[in-house]
Amino acid sequence: MHHLILDWFSRKGRVFPWRYDSPDPYHVLISEYMLQQTQTTRIAERYPIFLAKFPNILSLSKASNQEIILAWQGLGYNNRALRLRDCANAIVNMHEGKIPVDYHALLSLPGIGPYTASAIMSFAYGCDISVIDVNIRRIYARLNGYSHLDKMSIKSIESFAEQIYPKGKSSEWHQALMDIGAQFCKAHQALCALCPLQEHCASAFNVWIEKKKVKRNEPSHRNIPNRIWRGRIIEFLRNTNEYLSDSSDLLRGVLGVSIDDKDQTWFEETIVPALKKDRLIHYDSSTNVISISQ
Ligand code: ADE
Repeated sequence: MHHLILDWFSRKGRVFPWRYDSPDPYHVLISEYMLQQTQTTRIAERYPIFLAKFPNILSLSKASNQEIILAWQGLGYNNRALRLRDCANAIVNMHEGKIPVDYHALLSLPGIGPYTASAIMSFAYGCDISVIDVNIRRIYARLNGYSHLDKMSIKSIESFAEQIYPKGKSSEWHQALMDIGAQFCKAHQALCALCPLQEHCASAFNVWIEKKKVKRNEPSHRNIPNRIWRGRIIEFLRNTNEYLSDSSDLLRGVLGVSIDDKDQTWFEETIVPALKKDRLIHYDSSTNVISISQ
């Protein structure tokens, strides 16, 4: 199975700007950080622009809040931008600017969890380590014939993951599985006829398909989650001349409707405090001006 998958990956693996032989660990850090929550196609577009602005860890560590928030345009969850800059700062201050080759040291950095730490160890440094994200977990559960991926315990997934990957080829193996998970062995559709793992899969052509999850009951306003509104507010500020706006103009501009007291209260009591807590905005209550955090 190893040869089959590695061969498939060398011929059919997806081409992304962060994928090349011997990638720079900084590039892996940036791409994996971005890939935690956002689609690959979106990242593929924005990643080169981001790297042109912050070509190395030192330049990123020195970015002001405003610079990094502006550069994060199109990448979702804006507070992650500040965490990435904080991560670069910690690497510069605690690791002399070198991204650690140590799983636990990586885990202790801002915004880096078990997935990203193992991805950096594997993709940047070629270490022998298993990498498990939600797609790989699904593939392993299906390979083992589990009808529902939650039925295979995390412990069993981890021990299967540890023994299955070809030692010395962790990077290629896990990125191949990511491509298989994105294109064939998908959560809501299994294209077994096209899948290179077909012959080895206990669930082939008999895959239990996850039902689409019912939407989380997220705090919302006018039927749109507050998370989306917060993103729109930052996007609105990004597009103003000086990255600032009178708060009433901002609210009108973002909601695009006439504003009532309920909108005003929601904005002042829910949205502004959340954006301030995430360090994304500054609000001057004497002038009512909201700006992207300096
Ligand atoms: N998702 C997270 N990391 C990835 C990678 N290196 N390639 C493709 N998809 C990914």
